Amino acid sequence: MKTLIKGGTLITASETFQADILIEGEKIAAIADNLQVPADCKVYQAEGKLVMPGGVDVHVHLDLPMSNTVSSDDHYTGTKAAAFGATTTVIDFVSQDEAPLLLNVQKLRAKAEQKAAVDYSFHMNITRFDDQVAEEIPHLLDEGVASVKVFTAYNNRLRLDDGNIFKVMRIAKETGLLTMLHAENGDVIDVLVQEALEAGHLEPVWHARTRPAWGAVEAVLRAASLSAQAEAPLYVVHVNAGGEVDQIAYARSKGLKVMGETCPQYLFFSEEDLKKPDGAKWICSPPVRTKADNDRIWRGISEDSLQVMSTDHCPFFFDGTRPIDYEGKPVTIPGKELGKGDFTKIPNGLPGLGDRMPVMWTEGVGSGRMSANQFVALHCTNPAKIFGMYPQKGSLLPGSDADIVIWDPNREVEYGVRLAHHRTDYNLYEGWKLKGYPEKVFLRGSLIVDGATWLGKAGSGRFIYRKPFEVFL
Ligand code: URP
Ligand code: ZN
Ligand code: ZN
Repeated sequence: MKTLIKGGTLITASETFQADILIEGEKIAAIADNLQVPADCKVYQAEGKLVMPGGVDVHVHLDLPMSNTVSSDDHYTGTKAAAFGATTTVIDFVSQDEAPLLLNVQKLRAKAEQKAAVDYSFHMNITRFDDQVAEEIPHLLDEGVASVKVFTAYNNRLRLDDGNIFKVMRIAKETGLLTMLHAENGDVIDVLVQEALEAGHLEPVWHARTRPAWGAVEAVLRAASLSAQAEAPLYVVHVNAGGEVDQIAYARSKGLKVMGETCPQYLFFSEEDLKKPDGAKWICSPPVRTKADNDRIWRGISEDSLQVMSTDHCPFFFDGTRPIDYEGKPVTIPGKELGKGDFTKIPNGLPGLGDRMPVMWTEGVGSGRMSANQFVALHCTNPAKIFGMYPQKGSLLPGSDADIVIWDPNREVEYGVRLAHHRTDYNLYEGWKLKGYPEKVFLRGSLIVDGATWLGKAGSGRFIYRKPFEVFL
């Protein structure tokens, strides 16, 4: 099957130019001005529209069990929302629930492949470490998993001590895996949470007050120093504190291979939101911080200390006792109400996967904080490069997967839960006025979103075997 996208303005991470794109089967076959229309070819006119690679969100949690419930988007509903928001590849995290390590990968894969509607891959959480795990880590690459995540918080659950983080980094380096870091200070958090509970401080804002930014800042510097000693690259996830950006910039200035991502919630929201009557909607870990942190993170993007925008999508219902309509059926999933009256019981996480590109286009490109090319770099190309999927993903090049977005730069919408396709009952950007919006989304040459119409299918997303880590940005 052939498809021609005619007359659009192509935006890549480095260039903007007018060209047609010919798709043959699942791949981009040619990019040039005034391509001839071949026989049996479906033509889409894209004059006045922008044409970009499909987005790549390298930090999502789908169907993740947490706090006596489960994150409310599974691998179908989450990837459908991704597609409506112009994202065509996601990377989810495998929990280290049982031994051997690879069994966890295979189990999540079996679950996801029935449901995923866009392409997907996995990172492996390393939350227990011993000789057996040390032997198994290198085999992750055989399963296409090219990155591991370690935690300096969640004591007695997910956290590894520094010695074991160092050992994981060394093995990762030797194997060609990238180590990702969740940076907070688990010891301090445990002390502060206990004190808050004893003092009767139960409101959502105490979630942030018991997870201080300094813990994140020192954990980033500590991990950067471990990565220097292990001679291993490091990628800091969900950068939320201005001080973390400072540490990443410092490490990079010393020649260390340290990179970082942030998420839209850390650019737009703060502890003030947690003080609202519906503050539980903003509860995520690490927490949203202050206006000064928002500003420093924006600067971190412009000065290139941060290379990727992801979402840490991990949605829950605000009121999981009231059904929403999802594809014509009522759905309720226990959510934030589980922590009514006790912030420690509120499931951590918020929706964002479908919001990422529409919100960031208006707030980033529309406001002049970034160029359209930088937008593509941050949302599509850099994540694909860092996580071993380039040029298959994140690019407009002959031979790449035909994951393509036709973007209407003039379409204005009032955004919110009605337009976001997440399976949850709220949206953090409710009522925001956006200008510039995805119009058509192609996954490997198939049109899966056409305006408001969903043409994708559960199970049509494909697992992406990633290459070993190579590209430091
Ligand atoms: O609150 C969040 N983001 N939950 C997901 C867990 C994590 O550490 O990314
Ligand atoms: Zn994390
Ligand atoms: Zn996460």
